[in-house]
Amino acid sequence: MKHIRKLFHFIKPYWKLAVVALVLLTTLVFSDLAIPLLIERIIDQGIKQKNLTLVIQTSVLMLGISLLNTLIAIGNNKYSVLVGEGVGRDLREAIFVKIQSFSFGNLDEFTTGKLVVRLTSDVSAVKSLVQISLRIGTRAPLLMIGSLILMFKTDPHLALTLIPLLLVTTGVIVFFSIAMEPMFRAVQQKLDRLNTVLQENIAGARLVKAFVRADYEGERFEVANEDYTERSIRLMQFMSTMSPVLTIFVNIGIVTVIWYGGLQVIHGNLMVGQIVAFTNYLFTTMTPLIMMTMLSNTWANGIASARRVNEVLDTVAEVQEDPNAQPLPDQALARVVFNNVSFHYCGDVERPILEGVNLVAEPGQTIAILGATGAGKSSLINLIPRFYDVTEGQISIDGVDIRSIQTDSLLSQIGIVPQESILFSGTVGDNIRYGQPEATQEEVVAAAQAAQAHEFITRLPRGYETHIEERGVNLSGGQKQRIAIARALITQPKILILDDSTSAVDVETETKIQSALENNQRKHTSFVVAQRISTVLNADKILVIDRGQIVAQGTHAQLMQSSPIYQEIFDSQLGNGFHEGERPQIFDGVNAK
Ligand SMILES: Nc1ncnc2c1ncn2[C@@H]1O[C@H](COP(=O)(O)OP(=O)(O)OP(=O)(O)O)[C@@H](O)[C@H]1O
Ligand SMILES: [Mg+2]
Repeated sequence: MKHIRKLFHFIKPYWKLAVVALVLLTTLVFSDLAIPLLIERIIDQGIKQKNLTLVIQTSVLMLGISLLNTLIAIGNNKYSVLVGEGVGRDLREAIFVKIQSFSFGNLDEFTTGKLVVRLTSDVSAVKSLVQISLRIGTRAPLLMIGSLILMFKTDPHLALTLIPLLLVTTGVIVFFSIAMEPMFRAVQQKLDRLNTVLQENIAGARLVKAFVRADYEGERFEVANEDYTERSIRLMQFMSTMSPVLTIFVNIGIVTVIWYGGLQVIHGNLMVGQIVAFTNYLFTTMTPLIMMTMLSNTWANGIASARRVNEVLDTVAEVQEDPNAQPLPDQALARVVFNNVSFHYCGDVERPILEGVNLVAEPGQTIAILGATGAGKSSLINLIPRFYDVTEGQISIDGVDIRSIQTDSLLSQIGIVPQESILFSGTVGDNIRYGQPEATQEEVVAAAQAAQAHEFITRLPRGYETHIEERGVNLSGGQKQRIAIARALITQPKILILDDSTSAVDVETETKIQSALENNQRKHTSFVVAQRISTVLNADKILVIDRGQIVAQGTHAQLMQSSPIYQEIFDSQLGNGFHEGERPQIFDGVNAK
């Protein structure tokens, strides 16, 4: 219920429409209840007493009421749909906005599959919950209460004999509703899993082909698909027993009414019309119960979904902005200092990824970071834009702790080229302009030139207007990387972070990119993660990272003197034993030395 209460917030903007729907629904109850009364009148006062005028009058009245009922029901449906769809749209928007506010850590926790299910099928379930509630929510209980009152009015004894039956029926429905919620939740979890597998498979379709893993992927999919189907079948089978069980109760009720009522008619205590009306009331009491079974399905499903939607909405972004945060001053020099920084990924306390990192990057300096795969290079640079927060220690820019800087202001000063180049569908120009939408064509070209991308872009069929497909599939790896570099450069950042961003670019182009960056009039402090030692030779400072620790730092010349590890890397890549494309194995176990 807690989850439903929270969702009330989303119904609030539509409360007027919801009230109209409920008022219409309530009027329906009155006409629903009037029909059996009129039938009783036709039989007892019209047919039995051969009063044709009364029969005709009452029939016309009944027709009129039915017509009115139809109109009211249409109106109620209309408003219910408006409220339901409105709530659905607002929920989707709230989830979407929430996801935008997620930090990297939050995104690690929620997989794409999970988020997609929450945005689509969970929102639909909540929407149905709202709609169905407005369509039958008040009608069912009111109809039941009204029918009971009229039943007591017609014959209190007969009504009393039916009470236990009604209680048992209500109990059965409550039991079904409670039992169904966890089953719905299980089905949704399986749907999450199915979606994650599907999403991964479709995103990685090329890899699956390349590694001839279609069989394995097929199995993975089949397991997820089977699990989902099995859970759905279990739920559906359980749900489908509900209706027949309830029908038994309705039938027992009718038999009781006819048997007991028949006796009363024989003894002259009741009239036939009253019995007919009574059976009708029994139906109007049982129908809402059956309606409620429908409602209980939707409720169980809706509550399970509301819980999951709330999970997203309640998630607090891991990286929070300090309410007293200040913007980074425009004249910032970008002196970046790591002070005894330690870091581990959330929930993985056992395994520190970075430990005791101390580092000073003077304004305009280029800091190169070398290290084996998994050493913690990406983790280190991801701390600067606060994609993750440090666990211990402090990172400061111009002496200000980055946690006291407004996030937008911090990010606007940082240009980052992530290790994996992600491009959006759109034109080449749009992609470069991504961080600076108002950039002029000249600025786009200048950034592309610095990133050594201009030449290949002009050779594309439509130049800067060439359409890039989803995730940049129609470009080569090196082309994507260069567009990503241009995208970072166009913001004219004070801090430039390149995470292995030239790994797919040939050495000659890489050198050109480097010299373009060095000659850039607007000097930035750069962090360059690299695998090739040739990339880092000219850096002001080279850090060698192994298993989360800086094991050596200095210029190339200094390290050649002082660091045997660096010398070994140098030798393995550029020295005698160097073979193009070979990655240094040296880092593994450096600590053990
Ligand atoms: N989002 C994450 N959640 C949990 N652990 C992570 C996450 N990202 C990386 N790691 C772990 O942190 C360690 C360091 O990873 P990192 O990506 O920083 O390495 P790297 O030096 O950049 O390697 P590479 O050269 O392959 O890019 C690895 O052991 C990795 O398993
Ligand atoms: Mg990395």
